Amino acid sequence: MVEPATAIVAAARRASARMADRDTPFIFDDWYVAAFADEVGRTLFARTLLGKKILFYRTEDGTAVAMSDRCAHRSYPLSEGTLEGDTVVCGYHGFRYDAHGDCIEVPAMAKCPRSIGVKRYALVETGNLIWIWMGDAETADLAKLPETAFQTSAEWVCSKGYLHLAGNYVSLHENLLDLTHLSYIHARSFGTPEYARAPFRTEIGDGHFLVHREVIPTLLPPVWADPMGLAGVTTAARIATSEFMSPGFHRVTVSFYDSAVPEAKRQVGTIRTAHLPTPETHSSTHYFIVHGRDFALGDPDATGVMHDRLFQAFEEDVEALGKLEHMLAETAPEDMYEISVATDGPSVAMRRYLFQRARSAEVWAP
Ligand code: FES
Ligand SMILES: [Fe+2]
Repeated sequence: MVEPATAIVAAARRASARMADRDTPFIFDDWYVAAFADEVGRTLFARTLLGKKILFYRTEDGTAVAMSDRCAHRSYPLSEGTLEGDTVVCGYHGFRYDAHGDCIEVPAMAKCPRSIGVKRYALVETGNLIWIWMGDAETADLAKLPETAFQTSAEWVCSKGYLHLAGNYVSLHENLLDLTHLSYIHARSFGTPEYARAPFRTEIGDGHFLVHREVIPTLLPPVWADPMGLAGVTTAARIATSEFMSPGFHRVTVSFYDSAVPEAKRQVGTIRTAHLPTPETHSSTHYFIVHGRDFALGDPDATGVMHDRLFQAFEEDVEALGKLEHMLAETAPEDMYEISVATDGPSVAMRRYLFQRARSAEVWAP
């Protein structure tokens, strides 16, 4: 057999038609990381998010603001203009905008016409992260803001990083929810052969999708074995929980210990990683990452070593997802199908959820 039976392919195509993919419209009514806090300052900074060109800066009192980067007059990028006090002056004909995106001065006119302006976006800053609500600012729902308090907690030591992914954000979410890829994509970094075959359980909720996997016994990779003092220990345990939390937030929590040590005497170390994908375009993603650990807190060397090793592994995902994106983009529609197996349950449910969210939005255009 060189290809699955026609009936299987037809069923796969029907299922795929209800799952988000690289062509599905973006979900605007939610929070996404726009930037790390230290990226936005007293200079004009532009970034494309969910296909929109957005301008960022801080006002003189330090408040971060975001508005459309496209001048309302003739579409010149406002980020090519100048920041004067709390206002932005367009570099083409000098229209001046305040921090709300309202035009307050047109140099060629004695009186500024009313009701000219560009769209402003709601921002919230938590710790090192600046979150943006991509829908109308008036509808920004603080109750939906992802919880990432660990990044500023004294109980965690964190580091952060950014990767530019030449792939769509749906594929990244699916990658994070199916960590069986650790045994393959990460075979040379933090994956181990037994990871993909370890027992697991899943939870499929309304907008929350979880996979919990217990790998016991295992040999921990150096990135965690070294700071945990478990190098060479063949009875180690690796307990991983991967959770889709929102379109802009995926949380991975992993605990390590020596399973040969009685529970009461075990030293358990935990890491938590906030994977924060923000679509740039349909084929590219801003991949923000905050990684924390609750062990070896007083070991500054561990922070740098772990960061470097982890980001080498995350680069493996970026490389692989770039190749996947290329394949998806180059495949003719009539040749396209994806067959899901039982263990894809959470991924399929997550992709259906994204599809439904996109379909219920006003921007949906089938
Ligand atoms: S394009 Fe900005 S003022 Fe004309
Ligand atoms: Fe990965």
